[in-house]
Amino acid sequence: MEEAHQAAGRGGPGGGLRGLGADDAPAARPVALTDIAGDTGEPVPTNVAELDRVLVGGLVPGSITLLGGEPGIGKSTLVLQALAEMAGRGRRGLLVSAEESPTQVRRRAARLDALVPGLWLVAETSMPGIQAAVQEIKPDVLVVDSIQTVWDPDLDSTPGSVVQVRGCAHRLSVMAKADGLTTILVGHVTKEGTLAGPRLLEHLVDTVLSFDGDRHHALRLLRSVKHRFGPTGELGLFEMTGAGLEGVADPGGLFLVDRRCGTPGSVVFPSMEGQRPLLVEIQALVVQTPMVSPRRSATGFDAGRLALLLAVLDRRAGLSLAHHDVYVSAVGGVRISEPGADLAVCMALASAQTGKPVGDDVVVLGEVGLGGEVRQVAHTPRRLAEAARLGFARALVADRGPDEGPLALRRVPTLAHALDQYLGGDRSTLSPLRVVGADPAAAERAAAQAAAHPASG
Ligand code: TYD
Ligand code: MG
Repeated sequence: MEEAHQAAGRGGPGGGLRGLGADDAPAARPVALTDIAGDTGEPVPTNVAELDRVLVGGLVPGSITLLGGEPGIGKSTLVLQALAEMAGRGRRGLLVSAEESPTQVRRRAARLDALVPGLWLVAETSMPGIQAAVQEIKPDVLVVDSIQTVWDPDLDSTPGSVVQVRGCAHRLSVMAKADGLTTILVGHVTKEGTLAGPRLLEHLVDTVLSFDGDRHHALRLLRSVKHRFGPTGELGLFEMTGAGLEGVADPGGLFLVDRRCGTPGSVVFPSMEGQRPLLVEIQALVVQTPMVSPRRSATGFDAGRLALLLAVLDRRAGLSLAHHDVYVSAVGGVRISEPGADLAVCMALASAQTGKPVGDDVVVLGEVGLGGEVRQVAHTPRRLAEAARLGFARALVADRGPDEGPLALRRVPTLAHALDQYLGGDRSTLSPLRVVGADPAAAERAAAQAAAHPASG
């Protein structure tokens, strides 16, 4: 029953199955797929550009979205700005403030220039109260800030409990589907990164957005973790200013502003965040340690992947860090999850170990396989074009890649080649690094020797 019910709701926000809500649908009747209206459910822009980017156009009418993030990151600010923008375009908004008093919300709204007609506020925590407010105002968009502080007297559980949070979210999602009411739920995420409340709700909502960044810095990153109406993977970038969140329109070199050139262990990786190329500095630090199990720390990069790359460096490129603590960090709060960053991480490690900086005008791009081979990466031309636009002149890339581009390309078939090329001819002075495997110079010497003494060969 529950299943059929949810299926009906999902038939499309604003779709042909509307009206088969929770309270009036003893049984959902099958409908021919072709009879269902398919042209509704177009996203409506919020006019907060970076939010629309992540939502791939905007909020789909009747959809339910969960916005999660740590306390203080700017969730309330973001939803208020979005509501004000939408109200300014004639879409009625209702903000349910379950945490803050109307005075607090008004003060924030004044700061954000969000005191616009068409935007309603109710300070309410109980589900019946929220439903009454929705009946009265009949908004197009409903925001509940936050879902963790809302409770339902019908549920036999204390406010804030899992049962309450889940139960209230369920009722709100049924309401959203039944009335075609676009709904945003704000949810707090604990410092440990577990979506304490929100994770429980992921399956109940259409879209899950995660808002994060370093609270001590102005930069805020918005991502979609789940999106029923389009691809995930777009990154929205904001700066928290004195007057609210401002979108960062040209983020290309955003993460490079504090970069100190000439530092060993620093490598620039041209990443792709959704459709946008984004240049990110990867830093590595390598410190000798007497400990039996040295430390491996990865910030903004997968720790398991780091362990794998350390193993490949050791076995395939002769760079052993078995007696070193290793720290790798993607600068600026970005999270790098694409394997295209492998080569950049390896180069950063080698650079940190040898104390030899990688050139300031170089970007590094390539996936590293277990055999030590370097593989090409999707969207290479776009990434390199962005690097060129931002003033980079050279790129270290896989052997098989685009033929030419705006940058001088250094092609490397293997990780050993990459280290070799980057270390140039004076490897011997850099004792910590042994380059094994393909070594053209050694091969040449051997060939010359063989030619000089054919008999002994
Ligand atoms: P808030 O939206 O309340 O965060 P959340 O709802 O995620 O807990 O915003 C938190 C911080 O943002 C707060 O420390 C104050 C700061 N802030 C600004 O810097 N500029 C602004 O215009 C606003 C409204 C808030
Ligand atoms: Mg808040």
